[in-house]
Amino acid sequence: MAPAIVFDHVRKEYPDGTVAVDDLSFEVREHELLALVGPSGCGKSTTLRMANRLVELTSGRILINGEDITQVDTVALRRRIGYVIQHVGLFPHRTVTQNVSTVPQLLGWDRARTRARVGELLELVGLDPDRYGRRYPHELSGGARQRVGVARALAVDPPVLLMDEPFGAVDPVGRRRLQAEFRRIHRELGTTVVLVTHDVDEAVRLADRGAVLSRGGGLEQPAPPVSVLSAPASPAVADLVGSGAAVRLLALGRLERADLAPGARAVDAEAADSAHGASLELGAALDDVFAAIAQAPDGRVLVRQDGALVGMADADTVVTALQRVTAAAQA
Ligand SMILES: Nc1ncnc2c1ncn2[C@@H]1O[C@H](COP(=O)(O)OP(=O)(O)OP(=O)(O)O)[C@@H](O)[C@H]1O
Ligand SMILES: [Mg+2]
Repeated sequence: MAPAIVFDHVRKEYPDGTVAVDDLSFEVREHELLALVGPSGCGKSTTLRMANRLVELTSGRILINGEDITQVDTVALRRRIGYVIQHVGLFPHRTVTQNVSTVPQLLGWDRARTRARVGELLELVGLDPDRYGRRYPHELSGGARQRVGVARALAVDPPVLLMDEPFGAVDPVGRRRLQAEFRRIHRELGTTVVLVTHDVDEAVRLADRGAVLSRGGGLEQPAPPVSVLSAPASPAVADLVGSGAAVRLLALGRLERADLAPGARAVDAEAADSAHGASLELGAALDDVFAAIAQAPDGRVLVRQDGALVGMADADTVVTALQRVTAAAQA
């Protein structure tokens, strides 16, 4: 299948001589969520803005669905691309409903269709339309504003969505919730997404593939988060994912039957069952396994599959699972 988006040796030099992006090449597959992670000022926003031609590239090519974006009418181009702006950028003097209606109105949708769509979108991002529709941006929390920004970008169900630090203004707890909801939305809609963030954890949680953008435009070939974490392709990537890489892997790995110690698998199920309260399901995220073990008085937790006891997990189990996840990513 042809890639949905292609950046081909793209360079952006601003008129004052700042080279924001230099020789950037990567591809985004249809329906995938690609995360570009990088430090402030490395050219993330410039990269997204070139794709919808808010910024004109200096040299190179960008293709969307095989078409060179310079050969397409900009209005037609932007109709196909949803854009979640860094710092949200809602229109302050327009209500939530009016903000989300912006693109449908530009496209000349009638009132009934627009109203129905706005209601649907607000529901999708977890905002009650009756409660929030008539509010102005200053009457919303940061998290609610970001939800409205996402709803606005999705208004006409664009095949491509560009997201610039979409959850940046939200506190850590709200951020995790928004990320989880966005993951669900992405699966449901199948939109091709490029998300830029400086938050490694955000990329790990959301991305099908992630790539590290360094200052001056260098990019490591995009790879699934597990590979990026377990086998950083360069010192720059290792630096960015840092010493927390193993901990982050815990959020990605799942407990499998092979991780359970052979001895523990043969444990006397009935006796163990009566002695222990807590249990986990096979397939649980490793960070949940780790948390359960840490709380268990003897550091061991029963593991079930569809309710039936299949073994016991302890700290060694988690280490075994992490080694398996890492080895699989490097294979
Ligand atoms: N209009 C402009 N004119 C000149 N230089 C610019 C312009 N816009 C951005 N730059 C510069 O280009 C570089 C990349 O900026 P960009 O906004 O793309 O970075 P970013 O990765 O999005 O940063 P942040 O994480 O802080 O949002 C920076 O050095 C910035 O100062
Ligand atoms: Mg930016």
